[in-house]
Amino acid sequence: METKITRGPIVNCANLSMTFGKSCVLDKIDFTAKPGELHCIIGPNGGGKSTFVKSLLGQLRHEGSISLEWDNQPGRIGYVPQTIEVDKTVPLTVENFISLCVQNRPAFLGISKRVKKEIDSVLERVNMLHKKKLLFSELSGGERQRVLFAQALIPSPDLLILDEPMNSIDRTGAAIFSGIIDDLKKEGVTVIWVHHDLAQVREKADVVTCINRSIIFQGVPRDVMDEKHLLEIFTAQPVQEAI
Ligand SMILES: Nc1ncnc2c1ncn2[C@@H]1O[C@H](COP(=O)(O)OP(=O)(O)OP(=O)(O)O)[C@@H](O)[C@H]1O
Ligand SMILES: [Mg+2]
Repeated sequence: METKITRGPIVNCANLSMTFGKSCVLDKIDFTAKPGELHCIIGPNGGGKSTFVKSLLGQLRHEGSISLEWDNQPGRIGYVPQTIEVDKTVPLTVENFISLCVQNRPAFLGISKRVKKEIDSVLERVNMLHKKKLLFSELSGGERQRVLFAQALIPSPDLLILDEPMNSIDRTGAAIFSGIIDDLKKEGVTVIWVHHDLAQVREKADVVTCINRSIIFQGVPRDVMDEKHLLEIFTAQPVQEAI
């Protein structure tokens, strides 16, 4: 019998709620993601997907519980944020940008040889090695997304959380990202992916959760992504209630 590799954690949220001021953005979300599985999160703009991801990462105060259950000791978490602002006046090269994300040593010491090698390797994977000396602010939208994706691969993550990494990405880039995610899944990594391409979610996700403040539906895509539910997504307005 084939044994499943489990490198990543089981991510569990129970009754997760979150408010900004008096506005309820997430309401009693229950959610589980498992090692070796791709759990996609979909929903309308403003529905609370990025807020949910940031809560998972411990960046926002929330109510309810979030637990990461690791098989052995806690592993590494890779995160690709939806957007990032970099001041145009800061002369930060692509290589330096990634080193800031992944290195934990004083900037004046520069980039260690080991990290330099790792940076080259991940930039190669997303076909951006030839741009490593360019300023991050000089990159196009899709190129930035590639670099944001690359930084999440150092060190190789056990839990990977992606917030719409395919925005502005062309077909070649999308195929590269998709291939990397497939490989990580096979290695038992837990993958949580906020995504708006419903056809791809249907094809690739093991589980899908649709969030619009609360959970609209959740389950195996072929079971839950029927026309009625998809219509609910496309016609949904962000729901936020003052509490
Ligand atoms: N720091 C903040 N302060 C106040 N309100 C916020 C803050 N961050 C997000 N919100 C609000 O919370 C709601 C959910 O935002 P969120 O970014 O989670 O949506 P989303 O589902 O990721 O949308 P999109 O598909 O556009 O990325 C939005 O109405 C947004 O205005
Ligand atoms: Mg978002």
